[in-house]
Amino acid sequence: MLQDKDRIFTNLYGQQSWRLEAARKRGDWDNTKAILDKGQDWIIDEMKKSGLRGRGGAGFPTGMKWSFMPKQSDGRPSYLVVNADEGEPGTCKDRDMMRHDPHKLVEGCLVAGFAMRAVAAYIYIRGEFFREAENLQGAIDEAYAAGLIGKNACGSGFDFDVYIHRGAGAYICGEETALIESLEGKKGQPRLKPPFPANMGVWGCPTTVNNVESIAVAPTILRRGGEWFAGIGRPNNTGTKVFCISGHVNKPCNVEEEMGIPLKELIEKHAGGVRGGWDNLLAIIPGGSSVPLLPKSICDDVLMDFDSLRAQRSGLGTAAVIVMDKSTDVVRAIARLSKFYKHESCGQCTPCREGTGWMWRVMERLVQGRAEKREIDMLLEVTTQVEGHTICALGDAAAWPIQGLIRHFRGEIERRIDAYHTGSPVLPAAAE
Ligand SMILES: Cc1cc2nc3c(=O)[nH]c(=O)nc-3n(C[C@H](O)[C@H](O)[C@H](O)COP(=O)(O)O)c2cc1C
Ligand code: SF4
Repeated sequence: MLQDKDRIFTNLYGQQSWRLEAARKRGDWDNTKAILDKGQDWIIDEMKKSGLRGRGGAGFPTGMKWSFMPKQSDGRPSYLVVNADEGEPGTCKDRDMMRHDPHKLVEGCLVAGFAMRAVAAYIYIRGEFFREAENLQGAIDEAYAAGLIGKNACGSGFDFDVYIHRGAGAYICGEETALIESLEGKKGQPRLKPPFPANMGVWGCPTTVNNVESIAVAPTILRRGGEWFAGIGRPNNTGTKVFCISGHVNKPCNVEEEMGIPLKELIEKHAGGVRGGWDNLLAIIPGGSSVPLLPKSICDDVLMDFDSLRAQRSGLGTAAVIVMDKSTDVVRAIARLSKFYKHESCGQCTPCREGTGWMWRVMERLVQGRAEKREIDMLLEVTTQVEGHTICALGDAAAWPIQGLIRHFRGEIERRIDAYHTGSPVLPAAAE
């Protein structure tokens, strides 16, 4: 369990003020100049040592990502873009960081931007996060007024600007290339990579896109040292992580914990346990709506990190833990996610545009049992034809929840089909 002394987000619940004076008391902006004075290479090395993997879902090593940015400018400026779109269902951590601890992000922008020789950071924030954007802008204004960012930031001789850009509410604009398009004022649609943003990003310039949490933890890592962060969790899965626990628990919450904490411990210690007790658990989606669900038997002892969840054919994703107790109609729950992905598909790729609608329609029939059993394998086959055959990972995200459902709850789907054909009640008693 994470010890208080190792906690990074000490104001995650907003018990103290988010403003500069209070943030400084919590250790933010404490001699940031000394970090910058150590130079770009030192910062990137330290981030590599920390083992930090991107907190936006894919888990790409952050230090390595920063090292892809050009060291010598070819005349084009470089940019940092912070992904504050937070569209993944179940995920609500970035918003609390920005609402209650915005200076961590602003300081993170400066150190990350400096390490990548960027001239500015653009924080692309989900439009609905109105109050969060207000506080964040307040923190940016305070940082400018105190000389922490802007010309000669922190007295380092380095000039750095931070801007907020508010999105208009599309899940797809969280995908990094779509986000860049949207930031440029265009329709937010992903594009094929390469070229990667480090070569060709915002306005054709070198760009790195990072999640809010990846950037907000950087100043603390650099102050306390990469080795400190790497000492928490286990190799390849290091550090602290903010988990978002929702659904059928007694106390839904965001909580910062050690990476690799057992899922059961996470829920029992911080979320007041599953409604009706652990034995009333049906299944958990461990990493936001895009990853396959896990039945109780796996939840009993799985660890919450990238590698453990991958070994169970799921994923850590955004670490949004969605808990479903035995009253859940699990087929309907996944069908609802299919509807979401169908709605959010940008429509560029045929497998995604057509496949998400097709999968959703079949899922709706499976909810009622109005299908033939052979259609289960046909649906599974279609998910594999969508997965990996599209421009962006939204296609995978639409396929994986259905694959998880069929893997772990095929019996329940078949039961409904049998019931439908024999005229028996189709829905599980608890869900009616
Ligand atoms: C459909 C889709 C939506 C995404 N939405 C978000 C999002 O809301 N926030 C986020 O940080 N990353 C999101 N991502 C991941 C980003 O493309 C990118 O990997 C991430 O911002 C990189 O940051 P990191 O390296 O710090 O994790 C999304 C990806 C896809 C395919
Ligand atoms: S996979 Fe879907 S959302 Fe992504 S680019 Fe293709 S059509 Fe658009």
